Order: sequence, then structure tokens, then C-alpha cells
Amino acid sequence: MFKKRINKIPQHIGIIMDGNGRWASTQALPRNMGHKEGINAVDRTIDALIKFGVKVVSFFAFSTENWKRSEEEINGIFNLVRDFLHSKRNNFKERGVKITTIGDLTPFPEDLKTQLALTKEETKDNDKLIVNLALNYGGRSDITRSVNRLIAEGVKEVTEQDILDNLDTKSLPEPDFVIRTSGEERISNFMLYQMAYSELYFPKVLWPNFNERHLRKALKVYSKRNRRFGGIK
Ligand code: FPP
Repeated sequence: MFKKRINKIPQHIGIIMDGNGRWASTQALPRNMGHKEGINAVDRTIDALIKFGVKVVSFFAFSTENWKRSEEEINGIFNLVRDFLHSKRNNFKERGVKITTIGDLTPFPEDLKTQLALTKEETKDNDKLIVNLALNYGGRSDITRSVNRLIAEGVKEVTEQDILDNLDTKSLPEPDFVIRTSGEERISNFMLYQMAYSELYFPKVLWPNFNERHLRKALKVYSKRNRRFGGIK
């Protein structure tokens, strides 16, 4: 029996953090307690990603479709993200974490926008791990906004590269590996254009329970994948 090994580290991992609500209901807690534990899992995962040498992680924190949730849940998520950024800002600097965002931040409350702007500014020179937060993000919206930017520039015909260069992720590599927790096997409008050749992985663990052991297993799975990008090995 050969022990499975980690011999390939994805440069960019996308994470669709699913299962917070189910985790809360298994504990007979309100849904937002699931999101609170979800934030703790984000923080743990940042440490684990740094340990394994991953350079970029994109967390799908709030989708363009999540506005359909109750006002209480939405405000709860906003408050959790705001407080997380506020309390961890110095710690991000110590860990070499650079915070970036994708998605249209316009409709968010001012206090959240302020925390996001401050955190991005104060962490901009860090280079250990880019933690990219997808907030009010949708893959279709990203593509549409990219094309509209090109139209506004007067472009008559676009290339694939033009669209890529105008996506919110323009300064990031495409995700090599996308993990969605909780056993659901969907993309749910995450980075549609950028995920053309991403390897996908759907572990059963609910997001609030995700830890270094789950990441290690995920990286072993990724190491065994044979990426061909449409070609022949
Ligand atoms: C899905 O679980 C999870 C979300 C909608 C995202 C929740 C947001 C966070 C954990 C905040 C992340 C913050 C940062 C700073 C990255 P669900 O509620 O759909 O779970 P369910 O399918 O079990 O109901």
C-alpha cells in the first residue's frame, strides 16, 4: 500500500463554504451561529493554507443570490464579516495575509465597506497568502460587468482574453482547485469564466467543521488529479 502524498500544491484554491445552516441545526442553534463557526473555520483554514504554501484562496462569502435570505440572516453575516476584519486586521499583517475582494460592494452597509477598505489598504503589501473575499459576487454578474466595461471603452468585438482581463479577478491566477463542502455538488454561480479548467472536489464535511485534516485530504486528492487542459498527457 502506497501512502497518498501531497506532491502538487494548487496556486489558487476557491472555496464554496456550504453547510453552515445545517451545522447550526444539528446543534439546535440559530443559522447565524453556523455562520459564526464558519468564520472560525475561515481563520483556521487561512493558517492551514499558509502552512501548505498555497498562495491565493478565494472564499465565496456572499453571493448575488444570497440577498434572497432573511434580513436577519443577511445582517448577521455582514456583522460577522465586519467584526472579523476589524478584530483580525493586525493579525493579518502578522501572518502576511493580503485581503482583496471580488464582487460589487456598492449595496453593502457603510460600516462594512469601511472595514473592507481599511483592511485592503493596510494589508496590501503582504505577500504570504492572498485571501480574496467574494462578496455580492456572481460569476454571471462578473462576466456581464466585464463585457459592459469593454463596451464602455468602445470595443466592437471582444476576445476571450479581453473578457478575462476585465473580470474582477484580473490580477489573480485562475483557480486550480475548487472545494465545495457539505456534499452538495454544484458551482452556484461562482467563478464561471475562471473555472473552465479547475479541478473540483466535494467533501461531505460541513463548512464549520472544516480543518487542517480536511485540507490535507483535499490536497492529496488534488495531487492525484491529472490536469490536461483539453490536451493529451
Ligand atoms: C452557506 O451555508 C454559506 C454562506 C452563505 C456563506 C456564509 C458566510 C460566512 C461563513 C462568512 C465568510 C466570511 C469571510 C470573512 C470569508 P448555508 O447557510 O447555505 O448552509 P446550509 O446549506 O446548510 O443552509
